[in-house]
Amino acid sequence: MTYQEQLDKNRIPGHVAIIMDGNGRWAEQRGKQRTEGHIQGVEVVRKIMENAVELGIKYLTLYTFSTENWNRPQQEVSALMGLLFKNIQEDVFIRNQVRFRVIGDMERLPEDVQVKLVDCMEKTKDFDRSCMVLALSYSSRWEITRAARMLAEKAVKGEISPADIDEKMVSASMTTDFMPDPDLLIRTGGEIRLSNYLLWQSAYTELYFCDTFWPDFNMEELCKAIYVYQQRERRFGKTGAQVAEQKNKTAE
Ligand code: IPE
Ligand code: IPE
Ligand code: MG
Repeated sequence: MTYQEQLDKNRIPGHVAIIMDGNGRWAEQRGKQRTEGHIQGVEVVRKIMENAVELGIKYLTLYTFSTENWNRPQQEVSALMGLLFKNIQEDVFIRNQVRFRVIGDMERLPEDVQVKLVDCMEKTKDFDRSCMVLALSYSSRWEITRAARMLAEKAVKGEISPADIDEKMVSASMTTDFMPDPDLLIRTGGEIRLSNYLLWQSAYTELYFCDTFWPDFNMEELCKAIYVYQQRERRFGKTGAQVAEQKNKTAE
């Protein structure tokens, strides 16, 4: 039986975040340029977005380019920006009724890329079937620093008092303010780290790591990650007995 067939359709995670890693190594293993891996990676993004919609995932957040990735060789950065420009196609989102959003320091991106991204967000803003979010020039430390600055400015202006600052307000100051925290975070490519991705938001996220390089990732691998997620018990600090009791109550 496939993992897809074994999934509990009623317990699909609402928000899946993915660290799409391994493009470069995928290419290098084949004696190709790293960019070839990124090109293949874009194809997988398209497919996985459609698969996610089919599975009923409401939010898909893809780590596409980190703040630290700006430090890669200039040639690779340019190739990535070029690929981004070429592949933001609103028709794919419109056909799938998917809302498109970006999180990250968009101002650092090339002007033509920014224009395209803003246009695509605008044209898809009323779709609510699913939402695909690209994290571009994004890192959690950038985001948390930005949130701290925003809250400090509000306090200085007298709009809030420091004592008003609670977790809810901090969450609302993140770039992810329009979506729930991720239920499941997948990292492909074999590394067991978060690389500055959604650190605040993933406090209680289930983590799943696989060795598959991103260009080889597919629907069945996605379903496997969700299957593993469905076997886990999310306790949020409570005991197993409390969780079981809660489950019985909601079943009544
Ligand atoms: C992930 O693949 C894509 C980006 C970070 C842009 P990598 O380019 O990091 O691939 P590896 O990890 O070197 O194989
Ligand atoms: C994380 O991958 C960033 C993205 C997938 C966009 P990296 O390849 O940049 O992460 P490290 O450097 O191995 O931690
Ligand atoms: Mg990498």
